Amino acid sequence: MATTAPEPTYHPHVPGHLLWDNDFNDFCHEGDDPHVAAARLIGQPPVILGRSVSFGRPAWILTNHAAMEQAFLSPHIFSNQRGGPGAGALGETAFRMIPVELDPPEHGKYRRILHPYFTPQSTRRLDGMVQETCDALIGQFAGKGGCEFIADFGSRLPNLVFLRMMGLPEDMLDQFLVWEKGMIHGKDDATRTQSTQAVLGYLGQFIAEQRKAPGTELMHLILNGEVDGKPMRALDVLGTVFLLYVGGLDTVYSSLGFIFNHLARDPALQQRLRNHPADMPKAVDEFTRAFPVARPTRTVAQDCEFLGAPLRKGDLAVLPTYIAGRDPAVYADPHRIDIDRKARSITFATGPHLCLGIHLAKREIRTALEGFLQRFRDIRIPAGETWEYHTGGVLGVDRLPLEWRVG
Ligand code: HEM
Repeated sequence: MATTAPEPTYHPHVPGHLLWDNDFNDFCHEGDDPHVAAARLIGQPPVILGRSVSFGRPAWILTNHAAMEQAFLSPHIFSNQRGGPGAGALGETAFRMIPVELDPPEHGKYRRILHPYFTPQSTRRLDGMVQETCDALIGQFAGKGGCEFIADFGSRLPNLVFLRMMGLPEDMLDQFLVWEKGMIHGKDDATRTQSTQAVLGYLGQFIAEQRKAPGTELMHLILNGEVDGKPMRALDVLGTVFLLYVGGLDTVYSSLGFIFNHLARDPALQQRLRNHPADMPKAVDEFTRAFPVARPTRTVAQDCEFLGAPLRKGDLAVLPTYIAGRDPAVYADPHRIDIDRKARSITFATGPHLCLGIHLAKREIRTALEGFLQRFRDIRIPAGETWEYHTGGVLGVDRLPLEWRVG
């Protein structure tokens, strides 16, 4: 007699063909390439219910580019209030990461405050600072013939850029790196919450001092920002500064990690980019297309049917952009890196929450690539060594040993 596996009992209203009885993070960790592993979901129905997705809880998983694009553009169905990146982890119910944990129209009132700082033109004014930061970091290991890319460069670059944008003391870098490790890699909820609270405590004090005389243009904008004609609440100022910290942290260094992991295995591309520096912007577009790291979370705002899935108010949904970046319906031969393709992507989301730091992030990636490629030949992973990565809310690279010839 044929036996059938018992149907999972969660969400009894969901038809069996939409139930996916797996742990999403484990699934993405199978094999040796998380982007390839995750992309195996393409071809499933566009919206499936995973058994264990977000901190072990079930959530809807959007499984292709078109579905995610539509969801990003439908905030009335896929809400960012709570359930967003910081939900639950901060132990502070009134605390919101601004503007990412708000929905339109409230969202736009807060995003407006930051927007002028992050336009392509404004971001260009940060080029010198990013360049100087990259040069200083590379200078610390340039003579050694190799480095552990993540510890020596990848994690330091976005932290330093944040400290400099905010006017925070740079001798706090090591402390910020420790806090960041606790927040992202903390072994349990208590460690993660403790680290998050330590950062919030420090930033809160810093903001209080800055109120007397903001030290940078960005702090000036934030502290003078008004919503409906009134200054932002103190907790929302903190939520804004904190989001600028976490938003550009493991996203940048993990993207850099995946990109340099590829570069180290593609000597022809290294040479092409050295010989044709004008190709760099399209290389950055292609790299960010192929190596998305974020998996924005949404809370379903109303009972409805979305692309065949019976969503219920309060359900969680995740939009793994690293699946979208490998969708063959949008990108021919999606696992191949081809810097000549026109690579429009949703790596930085689309719609109201389009990443505010997109131009800065691309500048950091470009400057890092130029810095390494101009100084070093034959960048590679040393024989017998390997890279390490993790899956989860953000795909991340933990360790990437590199070596090179100088010249
Ligand atoms: C490669 C690096 C980065 C990636 C892949 C990335 C990706 C994303 C994604 C997917 C979102 C949408 C989140 C959502 O819809 O819930 C987002 C939002 C955001 N990002 Fe980034 N990001 C990167 C770097 C940065 C940097 C460097 C900064 C800041 C300096 C930044 C600041 C923000 C902010 C403030 C938002 C919220 C925008 C809003 O809600 O209106 N990001 N980012």
